[in-house]
Amino acid sequence: MAVRIIATGSFLPEKNVSNDELAQYVDTSDEWISSRTGIRNRRIAITETTTGMAVQSARRALEMADRSPLDVDLIIVATVTPDYGTPSAACQVQAELGADHAIAFDINAACSGFVFALNVARMYIETGYSTNALIIGSETLSKILDWNRRDTCVLFGDGAGAAFLEKSDRGIISVVQGSIGKKGMVLNFINRKTNNLFVNEPVETDYLHMDGQEVYKFAVRQCPKCLIEAMEQAQLTVEDIDYFVLHQANVRIIESVAKRLKAPIEKFPMSLGYTGNMSAASVPVMLDQLVREGSLKRGDKIAISAFGAGLTYGAAVLEW
Ligand code: UT7
Repeated sequence: MAVRIIATGSFLPEKNVSNDELAQYVDTSDEWISSRTGIRNRRIAITETTTGMAVQSARRALEMADRSPLDVDLIIVATVTPDYGTPSAACQVQAELGADHAIAFDINAACSGFVFALNVARMYIETGYSTNALIIGSETLSKILDWNRRDTCVLFGDGAGAAFLEKSDRGIISVVQGSIGKKGMVLNFINRKTNNLFVNEPVETDYLHMDGQEVYKFAVRQCPKCLIEAMEQAQLTVEDIDYFVLHQANVRIIESVAKRLKAPIEKFPMSLGYTGNMSAASVPVMLDQLVREGSLKRGDKIAISAFGAGLTYGAAVLEW
């Protein structure tokens, strides 16, 4: 018995922001952004919300799966940008979909969130606790960015991607997850630490901070390492894998991973050029694109991998 992604869905906000448009507000240029990252455009939420985008992507996945919201047993939303501290984004998605029979909760594993959610959902289904799962990565990163800081605001975008999982004779073959909490501050976004009657300090509010070079070094080291581990566990080689679907942070990171694995870059589909880095939404949006354009076919072998704040990282090998 295995657990398989039987359907996908995605949703991007309507407003497209090009590098040139950003350069009208921030001291940057299309040349810098595209040569350092590969990003040319990103979608930015104006009226869209993390829950709203999650719901849209979920509806598309359920439609592809030909399942009704009442069939859904488990909903996991991976996000660092929920609309509310509580209720969770997953509980809000449950309510909006009318998925009244589901268990719903969020996971905060930043850009690795989709891979982490995949493994949790897989275990719920493998143990028989749930018969299926809707896992969603949804982010409105634009609301936690400092739009005066060119070192971060040019990198990210908003969006959501979903996958519907069920038992099958084939599907997820191996998953690797890891966390390096002691390095966590290299990519952080602070919440209130304290706020009560007895604290005289002003309440801190802040934006996302990133030591880009440290995260870059972590990514190019850890991403190939966990992909190799996941392929070894699956007893497959680079040659057996049809697509490597990586977190869409930077084209240079993806090229470096391809080089490290000695895999042709053509096996690494990229959406970052038009989405920017959408954290937990990056991998499921890329998967959905591959499915809907007909590139990803049943029986293909794929490896996915993501890395990000926490620090967290993960990889999985699947038969599609
Ligand atoms: O999803 C979470 C995972 N996050 C990532 O994977 C991000 C990983 N890191 C990266 O992708 C890269 O480190 C960045 C794209 C963030 C930065 O690229 P870099 O080649 O490491 O640039 P840098 O930070 O070393 O900055 C080089 C220069 C600096 O100027 P000086 O000090 O050399 O004069 C920056 O001030 O580029 C400057 N700079 C910019 N210039 C124009 C930084 N941001 C910008 C900008 N436009 N947007």
